[in-house]
Amino acid sequence: MTWQGVISKYQQFLPFPEDIRIITLNEGNTPLIPAPRLAEQIAPGAGMRLYLKYEGLNPTGSFKDRGMTAAITRAVQEKAKAVICASTGNTAASAAAYAARAGLRCLVLVPEGKIALGKLAACLAYGADVVSIEGSFDDGLRMVQEIVERQPLMLVNSINPWRLEGQKTGAFEIVDQLDGKAPDWHCLPVGNAGNISAYWMGYKQYGKGRPRLLGGQAAGSAPLVLGKVVEHPETIATAIRIGNPARWRQAMEALDESGGIITAVSDEKILESWSLLARSEGVFVEPASATGVAALKQQIEMGEIDPASKTVVAILTGHGLKDPATAIDQASPPPTLAADTDALEAYILGE
Ligand code: F0G
Repeated sequence: MTWQGVISKYQQFLPFPEDIRIITLNEGNTPLIPAPRLAEQIAPGAGMRLYLKYEGLNPTGSFKDRGMTAAITRAVQEKAKAVICASTGNTAASAAAYAARAGLRCLVLVPEGKIALGKLAACLAYGADVVSIEGSFDDGLRMVQEIVERQPLMLVNSINPWRLEGQKTGAFEIVDQLDGKAPDWHCLPVGNAGNISAYWMGYKQYGKGRPRLLGGQAAGSAPLVLGKVVEHPETIATAIRIGNPARWRQAMEALDESGGIITAVSDEKILESWSLLARSEGVFVEPASATGVAALKQQIEMGEIDPASKTVVAILTGHGLKDPATAIDQASPPPTLAADTDALEAYILGE
């Protein structure tokens, strides 16, 4: 049986000693899915080679597991007894799972009423101490940074450098999956800005070419685009409802070095791409995850990105089942029929 998470797979690129006790759920190894139908919708006739890096297939349903295997492995190495994070939900679920596996206490702070159902359910199932705060993710992040100064808790938000060490393995995998060559463009959603920073670290370290980065922020939560903190961030993409990203400077440097673009997309456009992903390629993601694709579509339409014969990778950060409520809200309820084949036939024939 192959049992190889991202630490053992790429240990030579990670600052862990050979004999480290690795806490893993076999994260990573996610597929890079060719998306020719979506490419044709976004850039008709351009011959763009679009690939979807489906990070929703990680053990807890998001890309956070790549970073969490590293952060929790490190916590165990340091003999920590408990870990803490603030989260819009995915970091929390991932921390809760890996902490459970390591036998550590896990505290998570989430913004009250603004965490998608699947994420809350997972945190509770994994046995985390879940605390809802009357405030935003940004308030929670400030609180956890303050509490770790006072209490023996290890912070596992992406301020923790080990998170980025783990997450950079996504870049290694993409290069390996593209036969040793980085794509021309790499697009992804940007919230707290850890992932974009980690990917850039990864591409640089691997030394097999560098893409240009395209970061998408939700229009109501776009501090990097506006160049200032957003006091009251809002968006349907609750995962990236963040007004003051912790990795702000590092993300801007990465964008700059790569000749990249950071742009804001409306919730309407996020949902449009979210639906396109599911209906044209059969890939169901949570709304935030469609933000990179929405940004790509928008920049191509605006003439800011030339798609002709380009290789483009879009990171799909979280699984669609994380946020079932939005999926239900976006659809009309299915019809109910009598348990009768004639009724079914009439329905099929549109009678
Ligand atoms: N997509 C999803 C599904 C996320 O959960 C997040 C972040 C992002 C994108 C943005 O990544 O923060 O590294 O720029 N979620 C964090 C959390 C904030 O608490 O789960 P980022």
